[in-house]
Amino acid sequence: EDNGLASKPPMGWSSWSFIRKAPTAAKIEAQADAIKSSGLAQHGFEYVNLDDFWMKCDGSGPLVDGNGRWVPDTSKFPGGMKAVADHVHGDGLKFGLYVTPGIPENAVKANSPIAGTSFHAKDIAVTTTQEKNYNCKHMYGIDYTKPGAQEYIDSWAKQFADWGVDYLKIDGVGSPDIPDVKAWSQALRNSGRPIHYELSNNLAIADAKTWRQYANGWRTQGDVECYCGTNGASFPLTDWKHVSSRFDSASSWQQYAGPGGWNDLDSLEIGNGDNTGLTSDQRRSHLTLWAMAAAPLLLGTDLTHLDATDKAMLTNDSVLGVDQDAIAAKRIIKSGNNQVWAKKEPSGAYVVALFNTATSGSATITVNWSQVGITTGAAAVTDLWAQKAKGTIKGSYSATLRPGETRLIRAVPATS
Ligand code: GLA
Repeated sequence: EDNGLASKPPMGWSSWSFIRKAPTAAKIEAQADAIKSSGLAQHGFEYVNLDDFWMKCDGSGPLVDGNGRWVPDTSKFPGGMKAVADHVHGDGLKFGLYVTPGIPENAVKANSPIAGTSFHAKDIAVTTTQEKNYNCKHMYGIDYTKPGAQEYIDSWAKQFADWGVDYLKIDGVGSPDIPDVKAWSQALRNSGRPIHYELSNNLAIADAKTWRQYANGWRTQGDVECYCGTNGASFPLTDWKHVSSRFDSASSWQQYAGPGGWNDLDSLEIGNGDNTGLTSDQRRSHLTLWAMAAAPLLLGTDLTHLDATDKAMLTNDSVLGVDQDAIAAKRIIKSGNNQVWAKKEPSGAYVVALFNTATSGSATITVNWSQVGITTGAAAVTDLWAQKAKGTIKGSYSATLRPGETRLIRAVPATS
């Protein structure tokens, strides 16, 4: 959306994959500190996003304040959310938070007054409509034609702004929730604070133009995690099947990505080595696809235990720059497990990614310069993962790739 934010895909960390259902202030702050101390912040990682399970709930759903809004679970966040935001800001980073559409059943039961108005929860609630709320449940729909409905969302957005929220994910959003999407968009604009606005999850492509009109990003699919964890914090966090399923959605959603709004392919499970459930080749492919798609780069791993191989991946500015050029690449070849993606940057250079998505067997993949869009018959090639110049190559580019491996190059047209 045209709110002046997200001129480039956002970069940072999200609590969901690693911390999941047990976030605390100390855990979130430790990750923020790690982004700073590891040096990832210098490479552009800036958002620290607290996902679900920050709010207090019991069997009756989310508990509410005097104005019918979720309250923090102070057993996890003793100083409230502003204290966490302050800590994150103190690290020079930005703070993200999570909400779902609707109005809590507890607000309706209490008939909470809507802050700053003479309206009440019962004036706006649709008690026959249950909103999709993954954690506490018990959220009713809102009738946005009713006076007070927008004001209710405005009061919530204003509170987030007062807490110092810089990024808001609204989850459990589908096409029936378009009125909620619009109301939150308006409310965030009214809040007086620049707040990046992300929609989740598995949004319908049929409504892509609407998501783009009202939000800065939208999840194109379900979760990247496979919920197949075996040790502690749900390691492995994902598997190749869940990552490689994103190739098709990145291709079909390609046209909707651009400054102001991005196709969110979900978290990057890079940072904890092979514990993420992916081989190092697959992790490089994971980041390469996200970068080619100009997708948000939100790490889902434990940054307090950053693996050396992964740290090298996450600090490779040549690769990160492919994401931050803010151009979504097109898939130009898909042949069995072999894929080639390409985009042209404003300098006239092309960025080309070759992938062998198979889980066994090497493959030799060839792309003609003419397929990429290069008409001079030759190009000066740089390998972006290796950060090495490869000289001028005529006619076509070929790479033999291990299963799950990628090759990412920048090709500057040259005379042959
Ligand atoms: C959904 C979202 C995830 C995460 C969880 C939290 O599954 O897609 O990213 O926010 O909800 O419950």
